[in-house]
Amino acid sequence: MEWSDSLDTGVDAMNHEHQGLLDIMNNLYDLAQAGKTGPQITVLVQKLAKATTDHFAHEEAYMQSINYPGYTSHKAIHTTLLDRLAKEADTIMNNSGVVSDDFFTFLKFWLTSHIQGIDKKYGEYSAKAVA
Ligand code: FEO
Repeated sequence: MEWSDSLDTGVDAMNHEHQGLLDIMNNLYDLAQAGKTGPQITVLVQKLAKATTDHFAHEEAYMQSINYPGYTSHKAIHTTLLDRLAKEADTIMNNSGVVSDDFFTFLKFWLTSHIQGIDKKYGEYSAKAVA
């Protein structure tokens, strides 16, 4: 998965964190495609889970800082995504680091639809607010 302008939220700090998440996802994908399992995978899955949790907290704080009206619904979506990620991570941990294609489908869906469809809205709001 490549970074592209279609993922640009207009908020540099959030773009930077999204790029960091993308890097971890791509590392995971490359290792899984190379047939790796075990600790090499599980360490990265845990790193992704922590980076995602941290990112959502930072993003929620940012939304509150600009009084973004979509904050509550956006936060609820984060909660749902974290629940799903935790379940996926548990499955991988309990399966000796074997990653399914479904996991990457989930990650790709999250990255593209959440950032493009949900995250970009706070960037648009912020841009209008300062205009
Ligand atoms: Fe960047 Fe709402 O996650």
